[in-house]
Amino acid sequence: MKKIAVITSGGDAPGMNAAIRSVVRRGLANGLTVYGFNRGYQGMIEMDYSEMNGGSVAGIIQRGGTILRTARSEEFKTKAGRQKAVDNFNELGIEGLIVIGGDGSMIGAENLSKNCGIKTVVIPATIDNDMTGTEYTIGFDTAVNNILEAINKIRDTAGSHQRVAIVEVMGRYSGQLALMSGLCSGSEVLIVPEVPWCIEEVCDTLKASHKKGKLYSIVLVAEGAAKGIDLGEQIEQRTGIEANVTVLGYLQRGGSPSAIDNIMGTRMGAHGVDELLRGEGNVLVGVRGGKMESIPYYKAKEMKHELDLQLYGLAMNLSR
Ligand code: F6P
Repeated sequence: MKKIAVITSGGDAPGMNAAIRSVVRRGLANGLTVYGFNRGYQGMIEMDYSEMNGGSVAGIIQRGGTILRTARSEEFKTKAGRQKAVDNFNELGIEGLIVIGGDGSMIGAENLSKNCGIKTVVIPATIDNDMTGTEYTIGFDTAVNNILEAINKIRDTAGSHQRVAIVEVMGRYSGQLALMSGLCSGSEVLIVPEVPWCIEEVCDTLKASHKKGKLYSIVLVAEGAAKGIDLGEQIEQRTGIEANVTVLGYLQRGGSPSAIDNIMGTRMGAHGVDELLRGEGNVLVGVRGGKMESIPYYKAKEMKHELDLQLYGLAMNLSR
């Protein structure tokens, strides 16, 4: 293995730059040529790359987002698109690829390795923490901290006006982000796609809390379970309690990465390069039981990352 490439793909996640920095410097330290392609798989098709050196990744570890930018490439989902990317890799003599991204990115990497003979390694990066094969994805801890900071601000005004504050968080179809944010913020109500819920129960809970003299309530809802705005309208109509809605949106994905995400990005990046140096590949760098492992894609796909329902129960018990 003499030449490798690195991309970031899918939704950006804080800590991606730490992973890019680690891949580049670990590769250079082992005599590899490292190419950075911009905008994920699309940049591989369009030959949008630069050869990386130590200086290319200086001063980026503290930055959110990704210096290689990212994209979701429809063209790469086609055989012709993938072939263009492979032809470009062959022209440059690139033998291995590190993909820093989410579950969709892993599908592309697996396809490349299975059908195109390119050794690939996936570093799990998405704020959703919903990937199969790993208990942790880069960006999750920073996003939870972003949400916690926002909820603590929202709490002040909800308390001052004795309102119900509804906070909608990201997570696509998963409740992982909502669960950990609800647990650490002490939200009174937590609505996630994985746990059945009904508006009547939510309203009864809120009415009972306010009857007990609770000044305000925080209702945390995952975007995959319901829209915050609809929830707010229903709660106001059914309980008569004033509700304000905050959809946190993209602030959850921005800002300087937390220490955990920078450490995970750094460790996973180096682990991925080491895999390629050993002539291995076609693995996800996953965390299982707190340990970092190389998990073949076919195995990773079977390892569902279920929501911890005991933690969900704890969060709900303690908030009453
Ligand atoms: O997958 C990360 C994520 O932030 C999801 O939580 C969210 O639903 C989605 O990306 C938003 O996608 P986009 O950035 O394309 O709007």
